[in-house]
Amino acid sequence: MTCFFQLFILAVLSISPLSVSAKSSILNDAYTYANYDQVVTTHLYLDLNVDFEKKSLSGFAELSLMWLNEGASKVVLDTRDLVIHRVLAQNSQDQWQQLSFLLAKRDDVLGSKLTINTVAKAKKLRIYYHSTKKASGLQWLSPEQTAGKEKPFLFSQNQAIHARSWIPIQDTPSVRVTYTARITTDKDLLAVMSANNEPDTIRDGDYFFSMPQAIPAYLIAIGVGDLHFKAMSHQTGIYAETNILNAAVAEFDDTQTMIDKAEQMYGKYRWGRYDLLILPPSFPFGGMENPRLSFITPTVIAGDKSLVNLIAHELAHSWSGNLVTNESWRDLWLNEGFTSYVENRIMEAVFGENRAIMEQALAVQGLNDEIAELTPGDTQLYIDLKGRDPDDAFSGVPYTKGQLFLIYLENKFGRKHFDAFVLEYFENHAFESIGTANFVKYLKVNLTDKYPNIVSDKKIDEWVYAQGLPNDVPKPTSTAFSVIDEQRAQWLNDEVSLTQLPTSKWTLHEWLHFINNLPLDTKVERLTTLDNTFDLTHSKNAEIAHAWYLLSVRAGYDVVYPAMSKYLIAIGRRKLIVPLYKELAQTEQGKAWALKIYQHARPGYHGLAQGTIDDVLRK
Ligand code: BES
Ligand code: ZN
Repeated sequence: MTCFFQLFILAVLSISPLSVSAKSSILNDAYTYANYDQVVTTHLYLDLNVDFEKKSLSGFAELSLMWLNEGASKVVLDTRDLVIHRVLAQNSQDQWQQLSFLLAKRDDVLGSKLTINTVAKAKKLRIYYHSTKKASGLQWLSPEQTAGKEKPFLFSQNQAIHARSWIPIQDTPSVRVTYTARITTDKDLLAVMSANNEPDTIRDGDYFFSMPQAIPAYLIAIGVGDLHFKAMSHQTGIYAETNILNAAVAEFDDTQTMIDKAEQMYGKYRWGRYDLLILPPSFPFGGMENPRLSFITPTVIAGDKSLVNLIAHELAHSWSGNLVTNESWRDLWLNEGFTSYVENRIMEAVFGENRAIMEQALAVQGLNDEIAELTPGDTQLYIDLKGRDPDDAFSGVPYTKGQLFLIYLENKFGRKHFDAFVLEYFENHAFESIGTANFVKYLKVNLTDKYPNIVSDKKIDEWVYAQGLPNDVPKPTSTAFSVIDEQRAQWLNDEVSLTQLPTSKWTLHEWLHFINNLPLDTKVERLTTLDNTFDLTHSKNAEIAHAWYLLSVRAGYDVVYPAMSKYLIAIGRRKLIVPLYKELAQTEQGKAWALKIYQHARPGYHGLAQGTIDDVLRK
C-alpha cells in the first residue's frame, strides 16, 4: 500500500513537467527536423534589415527555449537556403557564448537541418544569418510589379513550410511562439507584420512589432512596400498601395459586421485588431490568415462585394487554424474544413441563406470535378502525404469535403447542439494544436456519444479516413441555381433569346453556375453570341473571366486568347491560373501557346506558382 501511495504521490507531483513532455513526446509532424519532444521555443525576437538590392533579410533571430528533457542539450532547427553566420547561446547565468553548429545538406522538401549543441539548459539562442534570393517564403517585387510602379514590395507566405526559408526556427504547427521584431528598411517604405501594427506609426524605416499571443511559425508574416492605411471601423482597416486603397475599403467594409457575427456564434475574437493587407496580384493565394493582418489578393476587389467570402474565410481562421491549429500538414482539413464551414456560416449571417447555399453549391461542384481527377489517396481528409512537399498535395478536399463533413454533422444534430459543440471545441483547444485522431476522440465524447444513435463511429471513420465522398453526403441545392438551369436549357433549346433572360438580376454566383454548366460541346456560334451580348471575355470579375476562359479553351472559342494572355501575365493567384494552364496543355497547339505566354508571365509569378506551372507544362 505504502508503495502504491508513494507512486501515486510521485505521479501527482510530476504532473506538470510530465504533462508538457507527454503531450509533445509524440512527434507527429514529419515536415520538421526539430526535436520538439526535447526542447521548444517559447518566444522569438527577430532583428532584420530588409535589403531590396540584395533581396535579402539579414540580422539575427533570438529563440527563448524551454527544455522538456532537462538532460538534453541539442537543438535542431529547420532552415532552407539560409546563410548562417554564427550562433550564440545564453547559459543559465545569463552569459553569452559562441557555439559551433552543423548545417546539413539540403533536402528538396525539408531544407537543411541545423543542429546546435548548446550549453546545458541554455536559456536563449541567437542566430546571425541572412536569407538568400532563393527564399521560397518570400517574394521580392520590382516597382513595375506593383500597383504604384514606383517602389519595391516584399511579402512572405510561410504556410506550409516556408518560414524556414527566412527564419531559422522550429517550423512545425505543433510549436507556438510569441514574437517581437525590429525591422529596418528604406525610409519611404512601411513594414507590417502579423502582429500589433500601429495604424499611425511614424514612417521612418525603423519598425517594432510585438505579437503577444503564441502562434506557430507558419503564421509569422511580413509585408513591406509603399503601404498606406485607412480605417474601416474601430477594429478593422486596410493596408494597401494608395491607388487601390479606397476601392479595397469600399469592397471590404462589411468586415466589422463579419467579426461581430462570428463572435456571436464562435466566441470572442481573441486577437485585438483585424486588418487586411492588399498585396500585388502575384500573391499566389486568394488570402492567407496571418493573425491580426490577413494577406489578400487584389483579384477579389470586384466592385460589387461578390467575392468577399474570401475575407469571411481568412477571418474564420482566427478561430479555426490560428486559435486551434492542425498539428501537422496531414491534418490540414482541421484548419481548412472548419474554416470553410465557419466562412459559410459568416456569409449566411451577413448576406443571407441564398448566397451561402449558392457558395456551397459552387464549391461542391468544384470538389466533384477535382475528385474525378485526383489520385484516390488524395481524397482522404486525413491525407497520406507520402513524403511529398505539402504544396504538391494541395487540393479542395480538405476544404470542401471537410466542410461537407461538418454540414453533415450539423444536419444530424441540429444547429443548436452542433454550434455549442464547435464553440466549446474552440474554447477547449484555444492556443493549442490538435491532430485528426484526437479530434475524432473529442468529437465522439462531446457530440456523437453525448447524443447517441444518431451518427455511428463507423460513419465518422468513413468521413475522416476513407476515400471519396460517403453515399449520404449532403447535397446543397440552391433554388436560384435550379432557375438558372431552366433558363440555360431554354436558351440552348432556342426557346428564348439571350436578351430575354433576366441576366441583369443575376449575381456573380448565378453567372458562374450558368457558365460552369454550359455543355463542352456548346457551339462556337453560341459562345460568340453570348460574348457579343455580355463581353465575358473582358469581364472585370476575375472569377467570371476564369470560368469563361476555361470553357472557351475547352470549347475551342479562340477569341478569348488575347485577353486571356493579359490575364495570365497580370495575375499570379494559383487557383485562377493553374487550371487554365492545365486545360491549355491538353492539346499540342494549346500547350505551345501556353509556353509562349508563360515565358512572359513566369518572372512575375511567385516561386510557388512557378513550381506548379513548371510541372504542368513539363509533362
Ligand atoms: N491558409 C490558406 C492558404 C494556404 C493553405 C496556403 C495551405 C498554404 C497551404 C488560406 O486560408 C486559404 O485557404 N485561401 C483560399 C481562400 C478561399 C478558399 C476562400 C485561397 O487562397 O483561395
Ligand atoms: Zn484557409
